[in-house]
Amino acid sequence: MPKAHREQWATRSGFLLAAIGSAVGLGNIWRFPYVAYESGGGAFLVPYLVALLTAGIPLLILSYTIGHRFRASPPVALRRLSRPAEAIGWWQVLISFFIAIYYAVIIAWAIRYAGFSIGQQWGAEPGPFFESTFVGITEAGDFGTYNIGVAVPLVAVWIIVLLLLGFGVRRGIEVANKIFMPLLLVLFGALVVRAVTLEGAGEGLDALFAPDWSALGDGSVWVAAYGQIFFSLSIGFGIMITYASYLRRKADLTGTALVAGFANSSFELLAGIGVFSALGFMAVQSGGEVQDVAAGGIGLAFVAFPQIISQMPAGDVFGVLFFVSLVVAGLSSLISIVQVVVGAVQDRFGVGRVPAVAVVGGATAVVSIALFPAGQGLILLDTIDHWINQYGIALASLVLVVVVAWALRSLPTLQRYTDTISSVPLRGWWVVTLGAITPVVLGYMMYDSLKAELS
Ligand code: PFF
Ligand code: NA
Repeated sequence: MPKAHREQWATRSGFLLAAIGSAVGLGNIWRFPYVAYESGGGAFLVPYLVALLTAGIPLLILSYTIGHRFRASPPVALRRLSRPAEAIGWWQVLISFFIAIYYAVIIAWAIRYAGFSIGQQWGAEPGPFFESTFVGITEAGDFGTYNIGVAVPLVAVWIIVLLLLGFGVRRGIEVANKIFMPLLLVLFGALVVRAVTLEGAGEGLDALFAPDWSALGDGSVWVAAYGQIFFSLSIGFGIMITYASYLRRKADLTGTALVAGFANSSFELLAGIGVFSALGFMAVQSGGEVQDVAAGGIGLAFVAFPQIISQMPAGDVFGVLFFVSLVVAGLSSLISIVQVVVGAVQDRFGVGRVPAVAVVGGATAVVSIALFPAGQGLILLDTIDHWINQYGIALASLVLVVVVAWALRSLPTLQRYTDTISSVPLRGWWVVTLGAITPVVLGYMMYDSLKAELS
């Protein structure tokens, strides 16, 4: 495990933008709006903010601290904290691998759909178009053939990702995020402006923000809020440990975590406004209610949005803005998780960056390209996504927090370390949230998922 000349971010904003780039992704655009809508609307902002402050930001700071203090990707960084903890690092690497192989596929779809937007090539029925024509599923259990129309953009996604990682932290990841983040803000900003000026936007925003205060008494709403925060901040996969390991010695860990956390949440709110304005437009066009058209995830992006685009004046432009935003937001998240896998092998086995990218990154790409464009790809994607979201995320963070806070009792030492270099002092809040609130919530989340599974 050689420690010599570790790569570093070229600038302070480089790390911040990369951290925001990883956080802002499909979770902001297609997950948050629907979760909020379903879990109390405007009232959801209360548990959501509580989750951000009592788990999201504290865990973000913990990840930054571990990465910065031990200067390595998760397996080696955690091994330096305590030998057996290396296993937690590999668990995070495994999860990152599983997310990477399917996240890339969604970006590939979005690339195709940016093209389909021109002239609305999905025709009159985007739903069946997506399932049967595009992904190739005809009926449950009927597996179509390998889909070249998905494979080609997927290969392109992997070539871009591996090239960027091959160029390294500064010249690849940092440069990409410095282009992607401003670009995303402009594209998505234009989209939101257009969306809020559509007829029916007000109905959509009412549906999203109308507060249902009774939701605050519902445990599942709180679980949804914490789940959204974990997924959205990319916590638990070792991404933030990895990215922070490339920081210089002098770095403002707490200040950066606060900025990154609030930037991610601001983007989620912006996305909620854009998405529900567009859904309001769709409801008004079809003479229905927002509740009939509200959707999230794949159904929102590849079925509802095509319908909206087809009904809009100058829909082509809106469609390109939307799908290119998905691609840009997705790519900056994808490079962060693939770097976890590549960086882990680099640091643990002392392999150079380029061979690690070629072999480990290449193998990840091959698995992704071999599996997902096949007819059962969508089912496989759903399965992995479910498993990761329900258990993988919570378990990774739960074990980490319990080991660091209780088994090793390292929080006070880590806190002193972070406080000497950061702008915002942590005080007792950090130790209490991480030692008590976070593990209880994570444990409850896993129990809740299991209960739902078994009933
Ligand atoms: N944080 C990203 C989002 O909100 O879309 C999603 C994500 C990226 C999750 C990378 C997990 C991950 F490893
Ligand atoms: Na996010």
